[in-house]
Amino acid sequence: MSLSLEHLVGIEGLSADTLSGILDLAGHFKRVNQRKMKKVPALRGVMVVNFFVENSTRTRLSFETAEKRLSADTLNFSASTSSLKKGETLVDTIKNVQAMSPDIVVIRHWAAGAPQLLTRHIDSAVINAGDGWHEHPTQALLDMLTIREHKGSFEGKKVAIIGDITHSRVARSNIYGLTTMGADVHVAGPPTMLPAALEQFDVTAHARVEPAMEAADVIMMLRIQKERLGAALYPNDREYFRFFGLSRERLRLAKDDCIVMHPGPVNRGVELAPEVADGDSNVILQQVANGVAVRMAVLYLVAGGGAVAP
Ligand code: NCD
Repeated sequence: MSLSLEHLVGIEGLSADTLSGILDLAGHFKRVNQRKMKKVPALRGVMVVNFFVENSTRTRLSFETAEKRLSADTLNFSASTSSLKKGETLVDTIKNVQAMSPDIVVIRHWAAGAPQLLTRHIDSAVINAGDGWHEHPTQALLDMLTIREHKGSFEGKKVAIIGDITHSRVARSNIYGLTTMGADVHVAGPPTMLPAALEQFDVTAHARVEPAMEAADVIMMLRIQKERLGAALYPNDREYFRFFGLSRERLRLAKDDCIVMHPGPVNRGVELAPEVADGDSNVILQQVANGVAVRMAVLYLVAGGGAVAP
C-alpha cells in the first residue's frame, strides 16, 4: 500500500489502513534505532522547525532525536525565549517562522486547534505535538505501537483508559485510534473528569475503575492535568489514589499479561502506586523508545516519503 500524509494534526478521521501503515513504518525505523549506526540520510536537506509554545520534555526530546536520526536540519523555537512573550500574535510569529522556509513545522501549543490554523497560514507540513485538550497524535501512535508489540493486534482487546479523560489530549487521540482499530475501549475516572459528550465516542464509560480494569489487556493511566484545572476537580491526591489509582491489588483484576501504560510524566502515588510504576507489567520506557520510531515515521511521511523506508 502506498501511504501519504500531508500533515498530521490528529488521529480523528485516519483510516485503519493508514494507522497500520504508519505503525509498520515505525516498526522499520525501530529496527534502524537498534542498529549500532542509527543515523540514516532520509531527511538530508529537509528543514524542521520545532515550535513549542507549551512545556514539554519527552515529546520535544523525542522529536529532536527522530529528526537527527533522519539527518534533518532542525531549528528549535520555544515560547519562553520568543517574542510571543512580548505580545506578538501566533499568526505573526508563524509567518516569521515561515519566512525561513521550513519544510516541516512540529507544533505544541496550549490552544486546541493551533496546528490546524497553522496549516492554513503556511506552506510547510505540520505535525501536531499536542494542542490543548484536543489531540496528541504521535503519543497515540506510540501507544498503539507498544500495544501491538505486546498483544499482536487490537481487535477485541480490552483497553482501560483511566483518569482525567476530559482534559487529556492523550485519551482523545487514543480513543480515536484504538476504536478505529477495533479495540474494546473502556474509560473510568472521577465524574468531574469524564466528558459530558462521551456518547459520541465508541467507548464504555464507568464511574468506578474496577469494572474498567477487570480482565483488561491494557491499562492506560493518565496524568492529572494540574496545569489545566481551574478549580479543584478532586479533593486531594490521596483520595484520588484511593478511588482511581492503580495499586497492586487493582492490577490483579486485569488479565495476567496485562500491560500498564502511562504517557508520562508520572505523578507517583497519585495515578500509580510506586511498586506498579516500577513493576514488571509496566511498559512506560518502551513507550518512550517507541516514540522516537513513530516520530521518525511521521516525519518521513510528511516529508514526502512513501510506504517503503530507505
Ligand atoms: C502528555 C502531554 O503533554 O500531553 N505527555 C507527553 O506528551 N509525554 C501527557 C501529559 O502531560 O499528561
